[in-house]
Amino acid sequence: MTKRIGLLNVLLFSGAATVAMFLLVTPAMSQGAGEKVYKAKCASCHGADGAGATPAGKATKARDFCSDEVKKETDEEWTTTIVKGKNKMPAYDKKLTDAEVKDVVAYIRSLCKK
Ligand code: HEC
Repeated sequence: MTKRIGLLNVLLFSGAATVAMFLLVTPAMSQGAGEKVYKAKCASCHGADGAGATPAGKATKARDFCSDEVKKETDEEWTTTIVKGKNKMPAYDKKLTDAEVKDVVAYIRSLCKK
């Protein structure tokens, strides 16, 4: 019996440790996820720095994320543009999960704080 309780304690402890690690690691990971999505799917038009100065960005008229008129748009407006598309901006509703869209919006915001 004591042996079983000991095992239970070990399981409980490792469970709690796993949860604690998850809480610590998740914010850092999601920042990385937004960056990964952006570099893989968005930078071809919007540019690594978000200024849209790539050939595809110029051809489609992508605007600089950090310009005053784009920066003042809310996260919700950006999310709608990413999910539903807008003019030459493709819709990503079938290509990205809600969490990925949220991460990538946060990543774009972080580009303009530099
Ligand atoms: C084919 C080129 C292209 C790709 C790829 C692309 N975009 Fe865009 N994006 C545009 C264009 C062009 C606009 C401007 C749309 C408009 O308002 O006419 C835009 C607008 C936006 C906006 C709104 C800001 C604004 O200028 O109005 C956000 C946010 C955005 N894109 C994010 C993304 C994200 C995130 C990805 C990758 C998942 C992505 N874009 C991929 C071309 C692109």
